[in-house]
Amino acid sequence: MSTVTFKNIKKSYDDLVIIKDFSLDIDNGEFVSFLGPSGCGKTTCLRMVSGLETNTAGSISIDDDVVSDPQNKIFVPPEKRHVGMVFQSYAVWPHMNVFDNIAYPLKVKGYNKSEIADRVREIVSIVELTGLEKRMPDALSGGQQQRVALARGLVMKPKVLLLDEPLSNLDAKLREKMRGDIRKIQQDFGITCIYVTHDQIEAFTMSDKIVIMNHGDIIQMGSPSDIRNNPINDFVADFIKTQH
Ligand SMILES: Nc1ncnc2c1ncn2[C@@H]1O[C@H](COP(=O)(O)OP(=O)(O)O)[C@@H](O)[C@H]1O
Ligand SMILES: [Mg+2]
Repeated sequence: MSTVTFKNIKKSYDDLVIIKDFSLDIDNGEFVSFLGPSGCGKTTCLRMVSGLETNTAGSISIDDDVVSDPQNKIFVPPEKRHVGMVFQSYAVWPHMNVFDNIAYPLKVKGYNKSEIADRVREIVSIVELTGLEKRMPDALSGGQQQRVALARGLVMKPKVLLLDEPLSNLDAKLREKMRGDIRKIQQDFGITCIYVTHDQIEAFTMSDKIVIMNHGDIIQMGSPSDIRNNPINDFVADFIKTQH
């Protein structure tokens, strides 16, 4: 379990400022959603934690380790940050069966065969894919493919799991089921999670804390009930009201 700290994060592309001054503390084992309209900077903030994107100013820490602080020339590369990632497009490799997809990060790191078998068995059971290890992705449902992606994101036992709109490609019924499943897996694992979504139902049903964003700013953060009962302004009130 780990904490994530954003301190005065700024992100710009040349003159275009995307994130102005983003500060946030995420606790051990907390499930935090970034919620806001398309283009508000959610993915950018998530990718800065993974190291796939660099912040222009400010610092990001995972536990007590600063992983990015351009002013002090600190940049820890993605593979050394111990974060797991799950995306909207499942990014499950079509030519590998379920076992090999999930085992891939372990193979890359040079784990031996029996360690790989043990780890994969454990994680496959957590995401409820036991018995499907030999299936190819094209013989899996969308929900099962997303479970493979989730298992692959968790198999290295990362400090933090980052999820970027992971349910957007699923139909409504499956989305509803997967919301509960992801939350349960996160709690069973006790893993700190950052979950990006534009879907308020996902954010409100899954999160310990919701960060509502607009135009690269944090507009409000709090527990789902805080935000539901006390929206800080019209933007928040409208945003959480107008969606389905
Ligand atoms: N490489 C880039 N160059 C310029 N602008 C970018 C780049 N990547 C993202 N943006 C802009 O940053 C803003 C935030 O994008 P993003 O973080 O993807 O938003 P969200 O995930 O909330 O939809 C958008 O206006 C987007 O166009
Ligand atoms: Mg996005």
